[in-house]
Amino acid sequence: MSNPGLEQDIAVLHRALERERKRRAQAEHLLEEKSRELFASFNELSNAHDSLKSNQQQLLQSEKLASLGLLSAGLAHEINNPIGFVLSNVNSLAEYAPKFDRAYRLLLELLNEIEDDSPLAARRDLITNQLDKMEIDYLAEDSHELIIETKEGIERVRQIVDGLRDFARDGAGKKSATDVAQSLSSTLVLIRSHVKSLANLSEDLQDDLVVNADSSQLGQVFMNLIMNATQAVDEKSGEIHVQAFREDTWVVVQIRDNGCGISQENQAKLFTPFFTTKPVGEGTGLGLSISYGIVRDHNGHIDVSSTEGSGTTFSVRLPAHISE
Ligand SMILES: Nc1ncnc2c1ncn2[C@@H]1O[C@H](COP(=O)(O)OP(=O)(O)OP(=O)(O)O)[C@@H](O)[C@H]1O
Ligand SMILES: [Mg+2]
Repeated sequence: MSNPGLEQDIAVLHRALERERKRRAQAEHLLEEKSRELFASFNELSNAHDSLKSNQQQLLQSEKLASLGLLSAGLAHEINNPIGFVLSNVNSLAEYAPKFDRAYRLLLELLNEIEDDSPLAARRDLITNQLDKMEIDYLAEDSHELIIETKEGIERVRQIVDGLRDFARDGAGKKSATDVAQSLSSTLVLIRSHVKSLANLSEDLQDDLVVNADSSQLGQVFMNLIMNATQAVDEKSGEIHVQAFREDTWVVVQIRDNGCGISQENQAKLFTPFFTTKPVGEGTGLGLSISYGIVRDHNGHIDVSSTEGSGTTFSVRLPAHISE
């Protein structure tokens, strides 16, 4: 039995239900879209935050290095002055010491010429005795060694001061078109046999890698990086690979080793002056900070990628020289 009124009501309800279902589906779709958009902007925000953080860290690092540069320049200047007169005084002492020695020998000769029956014999024995007690022979020999050691010490301090000055240098060095491969080769000429005695050295240097640079400073950077690699590898299985190539507008030099690697914590401190993990007397911790300063003055970058226990790669990027 049909009830047209009821059927009509059901149909109206059904349509209303259908409309409601569609509206809900649309709302759900909208919600989904909005949450996707929200998620995307959250991701963007988080990336922006990360890059801001890393920019801030880089800024802090370069500000720190810049103020260290100023400090180093001041220190180098202050230390240089006393070093100058200490060295000059030691040089004077080095001149005087043999004269005292000679005077002592003459005195001994004179004393020996006094015969035993001379009225001066008793006096002679007294003086000889006193001179023996003073161990003048030993003092003369030791003074000579002390002077040599002091000179070596001062020379070392002078090298450190020069290093500090290089780190603080304002880039006044003379730059000219320099072939990076040539600069690397001439550095290797100096240290190849030393490096080869400790590691297997391979080279892959492309032609025509010209940069605008002070070639002796560049050589210093390569020397520091290669020496560090040599000091990081194991004597029996050490591998050092030196590579130079062009990448877009950059000339890239990479020095790779399979040495001990550098912990994440130490990677952050590498370019800070005096950071070293080497025993006292073996490393001053200036090599990388000086290299950083030089590369910065050449409008380049130096960076490191390293895994503890498996090796390190240092990359130096310099703007390729554009010939007019
Ligand atoms: N290739 C490398 N592998 C492992 N550690 C390295 C490497 N290069 C640098 N390091 C680490 O970085 C530190 C700082 O290097 P840097 O060249 O500035 O100073 P140093 O080698 O200790 O002393 P210096 O170069 O003044 O004789 C080193 O002591 C070492 O711990
Ligand atoms: Mg070093």
